[in-house]
Amino acid sequence: MKNWKRYTITSALPYANGPIHIGHLAGVYIPADIYVRYLRKRGKDVIFIGGSDEHGVPITIKARQEGVSPKDIVDRYHNIIKKSFEDFGISFDIYSRTTNKTHFETASEFFKKLYDKGEFVEKTTEQYFDTEANQFLADRYITGTCPHCSNEKAYGDQCEKCGTSLNATDLINPKSTISGSKPIKKETSHWFLPLDKYESFLRKWILEDHKEWKTNVSGQCKSWLDMGLQPRAVSRDLDWGVPVPVEGATGKVLYVWFDAPIGYISATKELTKDWEKYWKDEDSRLIHFIGKDNIVFHCIVFPTMLKAEGSFILPENVPANEFLNLEGDKISTSRNWAVWLHEYLEEFPDKQDVLRYTLCANMPETKDNDFTWKDFQLRNNSELVAILGNFVNRAMVLTSKYFEGKVPAKGNVTDVEKELDKAIIALKADIENSLENFKFREALKALMDVARLGNKYLADAEPWKIYKTDPDRVSTILYYSLQIAGALTSLCEPFLPFTSQKLCKMLTVSTQNWEDVGNIHPLSEGHLLGESFLLFDKIEDDAIQSQVDKLLATKKANDEKSLPVVEAKPEVSYDDFTKMDIRVGTVLEAERVPKTQKLLKLKVDTGLDVRTLISGIAEFYSPESMIGKQVCILANLQPRNIKGVESKGMILMAEGTDGTLKLISPTEVSLNGATIK
Ligand code: 2FM
Ligand code: ZN
Repeated sequence: MKNWKRYTITSALPYANGPIHIGHLAGVYIPADIYVRYLRKRGKDVIFIGGSDEHGVPITIKARQEGVSPKDIVDRYHNIIKKSFEDFGISFDIYSRTTNKTHFETASEFFKKLYDKGEFVEKTTEQYFDTEANQFLADRYITGTCPHCSNEKAYGDQCEKCGTSLNATDLINPKSTISGSKPIKKETSHWFLPLDKYESFLRKWILEDHKEWKTNVSGQCKSWLDMGLQPRAVSRDLDWGVPVPVEGATGKVLYVWFDAPIGYISATKELTKDWEKYWKDEDSRLIHFIGKDNIVFHCIVFPTMLKAEGSFILPENVPANEFLNLEGDKISTSRNWAVWLHEYLEEFPDKQDVLRYTLCANMPETKDNDFTWKDFQLRNNSELVAILGNFVNRAMVLTSKYFEGKVPAKGNVTDVEKELDKAIIALKADIENSLENFKFREALKALMDVARLGNKYLADAEPWKIYKTDPDRVSTILYYSLQIAGALTSLCEPFLPFTSQKLCKMLTVSTQNWEDVGNIHPLSEGHLLGESFLLFDKIEDDAIQSQVDKLLATKKANDEKSLPVVEAKPEVSYDDFTKMDIRVGTVLEAERVPKTQKLLKLKVDTGLDVRTLISGIAEFYSPESMIGKQVCILANLQPRNIKGVESKGMILMAEGTDGTLKLISPTEVSLNGATIK
C-alpha cells in the first residue's frame, strides 16, 4: 500500500437553502468526521474541508418566494448549518462558503484556464425566455403539463408526480413561474465540458485502476459510462453565481455544479498558503465524502475538470453512501419529514454522541437504511448505557470503593490479563481495517466489542466476591479494567468525541496516540481518578413517544394538505363494486424490470394461482423488501402486456398527491385469496 504523505478530505458542500438533518449527518458528515479524527489520531497530515454551496437556482427561487435577496437566504442558512456542524463535533479545519471572494477568484481562474486551453465546446441552443421579466428561465422556473402523466404542475426538469426527468421543451403549455406568462424560445450560447472526450480515460481510471471503490459507487459510474457520456453545459443564464469570465458573457454565470466542487480548492486556499501541496502533489490522498446523488459529479464531472486543467491530483476514493430514510419514508424538506439537527439538540441536549452512535450504527453504507426513534432508544439503552456506560461505571465505582479512587497496583498478571491486552490490540486492528475500507458500522462494532470485553472480564472475575479473601487479585482486576477504560478514551474518540472527553475527565487523563493504544497502559498505579458520573442516561418511552407523535402530526398535516386535491368520482352501484375481484395475495418473487426506473416484476400467490404482475412501485419499494409481503390485488383486471411481460391484475396502492405510492396490505396476516369487500 502506498505511504501517503498527507490527506485532503472533503465533504459535500450542503446547499445553503435549508437547515441540515440526520440524513446529511449519516450519509456524509459522520463518516467523514470519523475518518478524519482517526487519521489525526494516527498523527497524519490531514485537512478536512467543508463549506456551504451557495449558488444554484433553488436558492434564487426561495429568495423570490420570500421576497428577499439570495444573499439573505444563504447568509441565514450558512450560519445555521455551520452551527449545527459545530454542535455535533464535525471537526472541519475550515467551513467556508462559495460566496467568498477567494472562491469567485478560484472558480473564475479555473474556468479561464480550461477556456484558454480550448477545452470547452461552445454551443448555441434554444432556451425558454420570459419576455415580461426579460430573462432566460432555468428549468425550475417553468411549469407545465407533463407529457407522460398529464400532471399540470410538472417542472421543466422533472415531473414530481410520475418521476420522469424532462426537458423544459417537453412540457405542454409551459408557463413562467416568474411572470406567469408563456415563455418564448430564444437562442443562447453556452460552454460545454466534453465529457465524451474523456470517456475512455474515465472508464479505465474508475473501473480498472480503482477496483477498491465501493460497489454502489462503481456500479453507478459504470451505468453512466455504459449509457455514453455527453458534453455538459457549465454555464447558465442566471444572475446569481460566479460570472463567466469571458468577454461578452454578460448575464451568464458558472453552473453551480461547476463552481461548487472548486469550492473545496478555494476553502483550502483560505485555510493555508500551502494549499497546492494538498491538491497537486501525487503523495496527497484526496477523498470525497458524499451522498449517492452526488456520485456522477464527483466521480465523472469534477475529475474530468481536474484532468482537463492538468495540474491537479484526482480523488483516490469517493466512499459515497446511500440514503437514510426516516421511519420508513424518504426524508423530505418540503414535507418536513426530517429530524433537524437544531431541533434534536433542543430536545436531547448534550446527547450528540447518542445520535452520532445511532447514525453510525445505521449508516446507509451499501443500501438505503432507516432511522426509527425506537431503534434510537434501543441503541442508547441496550448498547451505550448497558455496555459502554455500564462497564466504565463499574470500573470506577469498584475502584472508589476498594481503592479510594486510585489506580490500584498491577500485581500478579495471569494469562487472562495477557489475553486481554492481546484482544484490545486485535480489536484496534479491526477498527483500523474497517475504517481504512470505509466500513464504519463494522468499525463501531469493534469499538463496542472493547467495552463488551471489559464487561465480560469483570463479570467473569467477580471482584466484588473475592475482595475479602484475595484483595491482591482484585487490585489486578481493577488495574486492568481501568486500562481498558483508558484505551476506550482514545478508541472512541473518532466516533464519540464528546464521550471521549467525558471519559478523559473522569479518568483524569488525555487520550493516547493511536499507536500506543493497547501497547502502553494509559493509567499508572496510584493515579487519582476524577469523580465518577454516568456517561449515558436511559431514554424513557415518553421521550420517544413525543418524537413519534411529532412525526405523526407532520404526516397528518401533510395528508390534510394534499388530500383535497383529488376530486371525488361519480357514484357507482354496489353491483359495479362487486364486479371487481379484489383479494389478498403474497409476493413470492420480485425483480426489477430491466431498463426501467419504476417497474417491478412480481410473482404473486393469489390463492387462485401463482401469477406474474408488473407494478410501478420500484421507486418506493426495493425487490427485496417486497418478498413475503401481503398485498391486495385486483385479480380480474384484463391482462396487459407491459415491456414484453403479460401482467395479470394490479396491486392496489395508496397514491399521495405528490405521486408517492404506498402498498395496501391487510393489517393482520390473511389467507391468500381472501376477498376484499
Ligand atoms: O447535493 C448537494 O447538496 C450539493 N450542494 C453538493 C455539492 S458538493 C460539492 F461539489 F460542492
Ligand atoms: Zn408526469
